[in-house]
Amino acid sequence: MANVELEKQGSIGVITMNRPEALNALNTATLQELDAVIDRVEADDEILVAIITGAGGKAFVAGADIAEMSTYNPVQAKKFSETGNDLFLKIENMTKPIIAAVNGYALGGGNELAMSCDIRLAGENAVFGQPEVGLGITPGFGGTQRLARIVGSGRAMEIVLTARNVKAPQAKEIGLVNEVYPAEELMPAALKLAQRIAANAQIAVRESKRAIRRGLQCDMATGAAFEEEAFAVCFSTEDQKYGMSYFLDKNKEKPAKVFSNR
Ligand code: COA
Repeated sequence: MANVELEKQGSIGVITMNRPEALNALNTATLQELDAVIDRVEADDEILVAIITGAGGKAFVAGADIAEMSTYNPVQAKKFSETGNDLFLKIENMTKPIIAAVNGYALGGGNELAMSCDIRLAGENAVFGQPEVGLGITPGFGGTQRLARIVGSGRAMEIVLTARNVKAPQAKEIGLVNEVYPAEELMPAALKLAQRIAANAQIAVRESKRAIRRGLQCDMATGAAFEEEAFAVCFSTEDQKYGMSYFLDKNKEKPAKVFSNR
């Protein structure tokens, strides 16, 4: 695959958007490659957590490919928007957690890609934004939907309607990213976070993610019912028995806790 790479670092799958000559912009070919890589991450039992980042040091992803979109008619535009939305919904609903390590421009489709991930970390050089109205279009890969859910409608309206950029410190202030790191510390921090998640019981991790994701789409009582299902599922696992007996075992000499993820 030319435009999207997948590298395994132990139980972590590192996905790199690799089209630096166009600041990793999302053309159709890149979207298709990313879709295939996400399928590989989901199918690979050795990968417990994924990280997505950008190659080239300047951009995470500088948006959907403007050159490709420039000649679209409305039918082609609808198809392109559907392709992006379907992919980002797939990412959001992956069973495995995925962290965006945003190392530069995350504009338009880049911000939308980051927002479809579960956790966003940023380098000090990260720049976020939805520049679409300045190009005569609307955000088309989830920007009109996810941004308001993450930062609230007032902030989302301001960012989308002004098309202005949001630098890393402000992105943290408004809750668009969890943490900001010096550029060279971003990937180590993302890997550390991923490893910390990977060290926990994976059925419980995935059920927790699913309950949070489903709960964001519904009322509290329905969400609580999803939570009860998730909680119950865990009591059929080896990890629940092991995790609780490990806690209750007072033998201080015991080896480090290692889950079987079953
Ligand atoms: N689509 C297609 N190509 C893009 C792109 C995009 N979204 N973003 C950058 N590129 C290309 C540029 O056309 C340029 O290609 P070239 O070298 O063949 O001319 C290359 O990537 C480098 O970009 P450049 O604009 O020269 O870099 P810069 O440092 O001057 O500016 C940005 C960086 C991110 C500010 C600027 O590229 C930009 O505004 N990009 C578009 C962002 C956007 O509107 N995204 C939302 C699209 S809906």
